[in-house]
Amino acid sequence: MEKVVSGIRPTGNLHLGNYFGAVKSFVKMQDDYDCLFFVADWHSLTTHPKPEDIRQSVKTVMAEYLACGIDPNKASIYVQSDVKEVLELYLYFNMNAYLGELERVTSFKEKVRKQPDNVNAGLLTYPTLMAADILMHKADKVPVGKDQEQNMEMARLFARRFNRIYDVEYFKEPESFHFSDKAIKIPGLDGSGKMGKSEGNCIYLFDDEKTITKKVMKAVTDSGPTVPNQEKPDVIQNLFTIMEVVSDKSTLDYFNDKWNSCEIRYGDMKKQLAADICSLLAPIRERILEFRSNDEYLERVAREGAEHAHESAAKTIQEVREIIGFHG
Ligand code: TYM
Repeated sequence: MEKVVSGIRPTGNLHLGNYFGAVKSFVKMQDDYDCLFFVADWHSLTTHPKPEDIRQSVKTVMAEYLACGIDPNKASIYVQSDVKEVLELYLYFNMNAYLGELERVTSFKEKVRKQPDNVNAGLLTYPTLMAADILMHKADKVPVGKDQEQNMEMARLFARRFNRIYDVEYFKEPESFHFSDKAIKIPGLDGSGKMGKSEGNCIYLFDDEKTITKKVMKAVTDSGPTVPNQEKPDVIQNLFTIMEVVSDKSTLDYFNDKWNSCEIRYGDMKKQLAADICSLLAPIRERILEFRSNDEYLERVAREGAEHAHESAAKTIQEVREIIGFHG
């Protein structure tokens, strides 16, 4: 059976971008693939979170994975730092990764610009750790949002380079997977780029109806179209992009028609969008509360998931050590 690996950093609650970019695919794929989904706690250390915050966030992401419908009887759910073999592979990949190519990664350059006081080596080697997560299990497919495309290219590059250096056909190149054929980027509601935790423009899976409605009603819009069928400016396209994934096609078509005939009322569109987001998230929120209050269950799921991940990781590390010339 083909293998699937993916993870999300624990930085509080998951948001709609995480859901549509990643988790929705996780749920879809668990029936057809051998799936390993983890909480990327090592990756989250680049910003030096407090120990208590990271502890809570790891549990939150576990609970949210389960609340969204990942079934531990079908997929393994584990915490990245429970599978220590990943660190060894990370070290080997770092030996084959060049400073210039790591410095050219767009998300690294962005971080350098945004947080010049904390440009640490973990941030620089973020793509090699991610490659280790994926290649460790010889993943065929990796469900991720559009923002991870470059990291995925790096993972493929590190796989090819390892094979070339050691003259083997060992690692295979993993593909990105998107539930609707094309890579998805959920925009923020503030008219800026993507929805993201550090952008502070998120709708969280845990948000209640009042919070969701307030956030959507505050979304940035413009003064409306003046010419029939005109192209939508980014801020308006953002609303439509979110509607495309949360609402029925008939709803989307209705507002598209209204836009095209210059009759759109943004207030109506936002009300509908808020209602559709609420009906998607209300049952998820209920289940998050349930799972979040059951530490014992979360720990069991993580323990069993780590056992499965460890089995495949131990085999890879043994083989990689032999390839590299270490005693197995
Ligand atoms: P992270 O934690 O930033 O995001 C987790 C997943 O959510 C997706 N995502 C989005 N998709 C669409 N629109 C958005 N606005 C949006 N925001 C986030 C991301 O694309 C991602 O799929 N490096 C990874 C974590 C990671 C990983 C891995 C992923 C570590 N090792 C191995 C896959 C395989 C990250 O920081 O994602």
